[in-house]
Amino acid sequence: MGKIMVIGCGGVASVAIHKICQNHEVFDELMIASRTKEKCDKLKEKLAPHTKTKIQTAKVNADNVDELVRLIKEFNPEVVLNLALPYQDLKIMDACLECKVHYVDTANYEPEDTAKFEYKWQWAYREKFEKAGITALLGSGFDPGVTSVFSAYAMKHYFDEINYIDILDCNGGDHGYPFATNFNPEINIREVSAKGSYWENGKWIETEPMEIKKVYDFPQVGKKDMYLLHHEEIESLALNIKGIKRIRFFMTFGQSYLTHLKCLENVGMTSIEPIMYEGKEIVPLQFLKAVLPDPATLGPRTKGKTNIGCIFKGKKDGKEKTLYIYNVCDHQECYKEVESQAVSYTTGVPAMIGAMMIMKGIWDKKGVYNIEEFDPDPFMEALNKWGLPYIIDENPVLVD
Ligand SMILES: NC(=O)c1ccc[n+]([C@@H]2O[C@H](COP(=O)([O-])OP(=O)(O)OC[C@H]3O[C@@H](n4cnc5c(N)ncnc54)[C@H](OP(=O)(O)O)[C@@H]3O)[C@@H](O)[C@H]2O)c1
Repeated sequence: MGKIMVIGCGGVASVAIHKICQNHEVFDELMIASRTKEKCDKLKEKLAPHTKTKIQTAKVNADNVDELVRLIKEFNPEVVLNLALPYQDLKIMDACLECKVHYVDTANYEPEDTAKFEYKWQWAYREKFEKAGITALLGSGFDPGVTSVFSAYAMKHYFDEINYIDILDCNGGDHGYPFATNFNPEINIREVSAKGSYWENGKWIETEPMEIKKVYDFPQVGKKDMYLLHHEEIESLALNIKGIKRIRFFMTFGQSYLTHLKCLENVGMTSIEPIMYEGKEIVPLQFLKAVLPDPATLGPRTKGKTNIGCIFKGKKDGKEKTLYIYNVCDHQECYKEVESQAVSYTTGVPAMIGAMMIMKGIWDKKGVYNIEEFDPDPFMEALNKWGLPYIIDENPVLVD
């Protein structure tokens, strides 16, 4: 049916690429383009004998718009799926604009020198994308991504208005290391060491990092400590969900992770301010990334399950209503299927599905849109088909 270019070849991209190759009827040609071509070639070697999707690889620096434009024009895809880092979002969007090719990502733009992620930079492209007659689909991972689609689905089928959303991201997996991150360490640590915040009555309420802790008994995982974080989908859901009064995001962390993180913070290892070391400028957090386990290697060691979903409270036909929609994903099952752990899996699968929605023209709006702005039904159906089935509980325990 069409051609897709994936930019990046890390943990999340590897899963999305496996899924693209399983879905050869939609994706008959694939270009894997990343900074380190050897990684792309290795993946191609592994997948090519088992798929009808024709795979090519290329080296690209996604910080360089001219290089991107050259490669996109040469391969001529319908969709570019950005699975590099959030720092590259705007450059890749610029290249897509120049080539008039649809754009899909999983994380919103973040300037490399400031740990601050907001949609304003990408939303500023709305008119340009509309005029170019192309779509930018923002946030097609799990959170943002599936959690946002769950919200649109709840709104469409279960509520007249949703007043409260709690997004709960639980990783009950154990990789056996005292400290490791489940996706890119630099992005992960920037996210969890930042101040927390939630949306209430039309404004942001800021908290200290890890200030708000709750305990929740997750279906199929058990009781876990979870902490309130700032998270990007809150910003767009606050605009797109009718009747919203409060949105919070919680993520589970084990004590060992938090103790290590605190210590690393205290000694300055999580800083993004460059320092001079033996005559060379280094960023402490980037150095830390280099000594931590590569998330891509956690797959064979990680056991247990993730449970990610949303608890909604609102009104239907004048009556109060609650609803919990979630997915449970087993680390070892993911490894068996695509040789990755569940955190990459739960992001890579929806990335493929979002790209498929655009490629097939099922989602066809020109401009820049967050994922909850599209019809959730075909995406929900695809989640069941492609490995992330959802569960609906109409009588959930609420977070206090
Ligand atoms: N929405 C969600 O639920 C969710 C969850 C997790 C992650 N994410 C997002 O998913 C994305 C990928 O995460 P990940 O864990 O897969 O990270 P990763 O393993 O570090 O992979 C990133 C890939 O991008 C490549 N890359 C980095 N800079 C590049 C550049 N300038 N030009 C070309 N390629 C470049 C890297 O190349 P090398 O191989 O040379 O390092 C690597 O292959 C991130 O944006 C992350 O925030 C979203």
